[in-house]
Amino acid sequence: MDAIDLLLNRHSHANLAAPAPTQEELEIIVQAGLRAPDHAHLRPWRFIVYQGDGRQELADILERAAINNPDLDQAAIDKAPKMPFRAPVVITVIAKVSAHPKVPPLEQHLSAGCAVMAMQQAALVLGYGGIWRSGVYATDPYVRDAFELAEQDEIVGFLYLGTAQGETRIAAMPLLDKYVEFIGD
Ligand SMILES: Cc1cc2nc3c(=O)[nH]c(=O)nc-3n(C[C@H](O)[C@H](O)[C@H](O)COP(=O)(O)O)c2cc1C
Repeated sequence: MDAIDLLLNRHSHANLAAPAPTQEELEIIVQAGLRAPDHAHLRPWRFIVYQGDGRQELADILERAAINNPDLDQAAIDKAPKMPFRAPVVITVIAKVSAHPKVPPLEQHLSAGCAVMAMQQAALVLGYGGIWRSGVYATDPYVRDAFELAEQDEIVGFLYLGTAQGETRIAAMPLLDKYVEFIGD
């Protein structure tokens, strides 16, 4: 896959199964994330890679969060611990914000977001599928505590990775006229 092809055809896969990326491949994937643009080299991120049995740790966090959330019903409580098992690997991506006079929290959150996309693209190149999810647990106070987030830190997402199952659907390219203005020639 050439680089422009990758960028123009990036897509997600929600239906993921084994085989998972190998340890060596996962290290390439997270290194792609660590290449994300990063103002002042603050390295404003933390990636927690849950794979295989390790996913139970995330399942326990989500289940306890669901139990502690008065807005969630029993169906949500039952569903929560199953979520990390929807793919062989789930990477929790946290924007870890430092105080800096020129780099506001937004820029650090954006860096962490760029890391998610870079990791998804690296996975695609290696022959795997992935999907970036957030959902109620990304902002849940219990989950934030479990990851020891400071006030300005954010869980920017959970990147699910594995081997894509079923059909690949790539959305049509949006029309340039609607979103892009070219000024000058
Ligand atoms: C910050 C962020 C959070 C997202 N959260 C979810 C989510 O919780 N569930 C979901 O199905 N898709 C979520 N998406 C969208 C998918 O990752 C994906 O981009 C979307 O399904 C469109 O598919 P495509 O990537 O193939 O164009 C999220 C995307 C972003 C950028």
